[in-house]
Amino acid sequence: MQSISVSVVFTVFFVVSTTGADIKAPDFIHPCPVATPACLKRALQAAIPGFVRGVPDLGIDPLDPFKVDRLALTLPGGINVTILHGVTTGFGKCKVMSADMHNNNVEVRVRCNVVVTGKYQSSGRLLIFPIDGEGDAVIKCKNLDISVSMRLGAATARGGREYLQLKSYKSRHQYSGAVTYHMTNLIRNSPEISARVVQFMNSNWRMIAEEFGDPVVQFGVDSIMSNVHRLLSRVPREMLVSAPAQ
Ligand SMILES: *[C@@H]1O[C@H](CO)[C@@H](O)[C@H](O)[C@H]1NC(C)=O
Repeated sequence: MQSISVSVVFTVFFVVSTTGADIKAPDFIHPCPVATPACLKRALQAAIPGFVRGVPDLGIDPLDPFKVDRLALTLPGGINVTILHGVTTGFGKCKVMSADMHNNNVEVRVRCNVVVTGKYQSSGRLLIFPIDGEGDAVIKCKNLDISVSMRLGAATARGGREYLQLKSYKSRHQYSGAVTYHMTNLIRNSPEISARVVQFMNSNWRMIAEEFGDPVVQFGVDSIMSNVHRLLSRVPREMLVSAPAQ
């Protein structure tokens, strides 16, 4: 399990409303009267399909499919990978395993099946293999378990409303199901060696994922969390975590 700490940059993108009278929570929000783990789990599960569809008015981007035109990453070991026209599917079907809220700490665990497709360019060494390729990639990840611990700051008041603040979060993940890799032309102009390297990657999927997969998973988690941040900064607190005032 890896643990990566991320400080969330505090930006209020815009103030939703100065009067507060016309604010409407997105229809996928079903606030819990009391934030019990059972209610939070149910509410989050119910929110996921609408949340990943995106809410342009709130600056919440679509996450399923999650499209990234260009992503350059340096993987452990100094491998440079650029993913072009990347499309990730599956976040909308993540299963909420548990959710808990204590004071300002929120802990959520989800299990997801995701598929990443795109074109890639790579340079560097994958263990003993010099990989300097360019081709198509499809990476399937079954039962990717992600847990996120969020720390909320003191609520901020704006326009007569209170808003939650996402102060920081940490995420961990583990590969509880197999990861499969389909990559063409991993070693330029050597289709046979390329196929053998891909076969090696698949036979050693866990080691490959644990050794090299973290930056990719972290990018996905960070993208989800920046949308969570926007949601919290734009939808008043009472619409998110407790029943609206009678
Ligand atoms: C990876 O990219 C960096 C920065 O662009 C470069 O300095 C480095 O030489 C590259 N490494 C490989 C193995 O291509």
